[in-house]
Amino acid sequence: MDSIPIGVIGAGLIGRTHIDRALKQPGFDLVGIADPSDEGRRFAQSVNVKWFADHDAMLGSVKPRGVIVATPNKTHADIAVQCLQRGAAVLVEKPIADTLDDARRICDAAAAAKLPAMVGHQRRQNPITQRAKQMIAAGSLGRPVCLTAMVTWRKPAEYFETAWRREKGGGPILINLIHDVDQLRYLFGDIASVQAMTSNAVRGFEVEDTAVILLRFRNGALGTVTVSDTATAPWNWDLAAGEAERFPRQDVNSHFLSGTEGSLTLPRLDYWHYREGKGWHDELTEERTALHFGDPFAEQMRHFRAVIEGAEEPVCPAEDAMRSLEATLAVVEAARSGKEVTLSQ
Ligand SMILES: NC(=O)c1ccc[n+]([C@@H]2O[C@H](COP(=O)([O-])OP(=O)(O)OC[C@H]3O[C@@H](n4cnc5c(N)ncnc54)[C@H](O)[C@@H]3O)[C@@H](O)[C@H]2O)c1
Repeated sequence: MDSIPIGVIGAGLIGRTHIDRALKQPGFDLVGIADPSDEGRRFAQSVNVKWFADHDAMLGSVKPRGVIVATPNKTHADIAVQCLQRGAAVLVEKPIADTLDDARRICDAAAAAKLPAMVGHQRRQNPITQRAKQMIAAGSLGRPVCLTAMVTWRKPAEYFETAWRREKGGGPILINLIHDVDQLRYLFGDIASVQAMTSNAVRGFEVEDTAVILLRFRNGALGTVTVSDTATAPWNWDLAAGEAERFPRQDVNSHFLSGTEGSLTLPRLDYWHYREGKGWHDELTEERTALHFGDPFAEQMRHFRAVIEGAEEPVCPAEDAMRSLEATLAVVEAARSGKEVTLSQ
């Protein structure tokens, strides 16, 4: 297999995850790491990859065909647009950007350059989500009716030593919930409107520690999502799905999806339906699909290469990630205004 030259911009927490997968998988030639920090330089040296103080120098020097943008959110748009203009496809970390205008700039630059832009909502690449998607597409649930998602964990006190995590925008809605919003959109379809309430009663920071959200999907289904980073609880995708090694896995469900013909839980993939009869007096059957273990970051990397080569369409294209950002920003606005917020068509 020929290797494809790729670069990584931003060698922090998630950048290093991508670097690890690129180095471990065949088919990638990691030609550069751009990160102005001393830690970034030291890390690039430690993995024997050419280091650059900025992405511009990297793009000009080693000419990657694909670039992973793993920098702070507010820098995503400028960097991704420059990569696309210089001829590199991009995998931008989530959220695609801070604002819808910036997200739109990335989409437009990709269209102008005729290059793919995809976004790192890696839950879509998890085999559990993929299996759920197949079951829903095959009609196992019938018509989507309603869902409940739990996003509840307790973040440790040290997490909040970093100032921006105590300030507006640094809370679980924009950092974590956006993953659930994206995953639920992927499984149940586009969101038409949202309502929300937030609370900071426990931690007392400017940012929310808890939120409850109502979702109305375009297909008429409704959803509720509970978010809290101050609740001692196992019910969240991070702990339940075991996607990242840093979270000890709990054998619980966090997402409950129901349709006219059946219900499905995630991540355990418990499927409830009627074999005979169709009413609450009849026997419900529970089927368990064996848990699909997989490394969504490795799969995302494999997929990125296939997308660059034109062999696959992006599972999470920039346009779609922009819709997930819009829905998540709508949650913030709904909580602020106390009103139902309608999303654009
Ligand atoms: N997909 C996921 O599950 C997931 C998880 C964590 C973070 N993220 C996203 O990844 C991005 C980075 O988050 P993180 O937690 O890795 O942050 P981090 O602070 O650990 O790392 C960011 C790195 O980017 C570098 N950097 C800053 N500006 C730069 C620039 N202009 N050019 C090059 N490098 C620059 C910093 O020096 C730092 O090393 C964010 O958008 C975040 O939302 C996604």
